[in-house]
Amino acid sequence: MSNNTMGLRGISAGNTAICTCGKDGVGLTYRGYDINDLATHSTFEEVAFLLTRGHLPTQQELTAYKNKLYPLRGVPQEVKKALQIIPGSAHPMDVLRTACSVLGCIEPETSHSQQLDISDRLLSFFPSALCYWVQYARNGKEIETTTKQDSLAGHFLELLNGKAPSDEHIKCMDVSLILYAEHEFNASTFTARVISATLPDFYSAVCGAIGALRGPLHGGANEAAMELIEQYATPEQASQGILSKLQNKDKIMGFGHAVYKINDPRNLVIKKWAEKLSHGHPNQHFYPVSEAIEKRMWDEKKLFPNLDFYSANTYHFMGIETDLFTPIFIISRISGWSAHIIEQRSDNRLIRPNAEYTGPTEQAYTDISQR
Ligand SMILES: CC(C)(COP(=O)(O)OP(=O)(O)OC[C@H]1O[C@@H](n2cnc3c(N)ncnc32)[C@H](O)[C@@H]1OP(=O)(O)O)[C@@H](O)C(=O)NCCC(=O)NCCS
Repeated sequence: MSNNTMGLRGISAGNTAICTCGKDGVGLTYRGYDINDLATHSTFEEVAFLLTRGHLPTQQELTAYKNKLYPLRGVPQEVKKALQIIPGSAHPMDVLRTACSVLGCIEPETSHSQQLDISDRLLSFFPSALCYWVQYARNGKEIETTTKQDSLAGHFLELLNGKAPSDEHIKCMDVSLILYAEHEFNASTFTARVISATLPDFYSAVCGAIGALRGPLHGGANEAAMELIEQYATPEQASQGILSKLQNKDKIMGFGHAVYKINDPRNLVIKKWAEKLSHGHPNQHFYPVSEAIEKRMWDEKKLFPNLDFYSANTYHFMGIETDLFTPIFIISRISGWSAHIIEQRSDNRLIRPNAEYTGPTEQAYTDISQR
């Protein structure tokens, strides 16, 4: 296999009517709608409806959808019990993977006719399950998982902080959830499709997708980016530090992309939020530090920040702990994963590629006593 096609770069691995992401940093669309229009004018619930149902909701459809999602925010007693035994030192990605698996045992999918209901359930469930565990295992509090918040973004922030969030923070979280919602055949979505193609239950595909998302080359990059930014007190230190890392051939997390080659269209939106929220924050220097890293990366490698880099800043300025950054990605991407699982099932064929064999051939078998 040539280097160009390693990792299946540039190879179409199937059809989709859900998302396009253009190589040149433009053309990211969900069901034909430009990401900038969605991030500017829409809400996360509208986008989740669009992805899973195929069209933007009318006002009536949106109201009905939100009314359906609201009571699905609860966490069953059995799942709470399972979450209670997970220590606070666990990674929250492992916690959500477990929560998803346990929910799949308590509310199993017995027929594909339930798939849209399960997708809605997981969308509402993940913020509550995550915050229930955070409060229980890390803050020693058992919380109710209900709030009066109208949006999932507001609901999540209120459960996480134990108080009503500002409108600005709700808006910022909502935009971030829109940006993270869908991205064509990325590693976790492709994982969900590969698993779905063997025709298991919905939850199995989502658990697998969470596993793929966890790594620092995919969703985990937002946490790794924060750990990098925190190392520097000034832009000058950052610029010099990145140069040394590049000379060491280190990968700088939050930069580069497997598809985009010039810029990530989502970055332009989230960077503005990072700048806005930095003002007056005790760590406001992280923003100029990040810009210095961005400049150095472009000057040295012509690499640009992807969505994860300034998302890290944004979440930090909202007071969110670093190891919750990738779980927020789940809270959003479940909408895209669900759309892909449903699409895969609608026209299914087992995904089973070939491999280029590079091992030894024509080996003479030797008995174990002779080896
Ligand atoms: C996203 C990513 C996996 C895509 O990688 P890819 O298309 O496979 O590209 P490669 O890893 O083959 O990189 C090509 C070249 O750019 C370099 N490169 C790519 N991303 C880099 C980064 N973030 N930091 C430093 N160098 C990078 C590679 O080292 C390689 O250089 P070389 O040709 O001198 O060996 C890669 O850019 C990366 O690891 N980024 C950091 C993790 C990240 O932010 N992930 C979230 C993506 S949304």
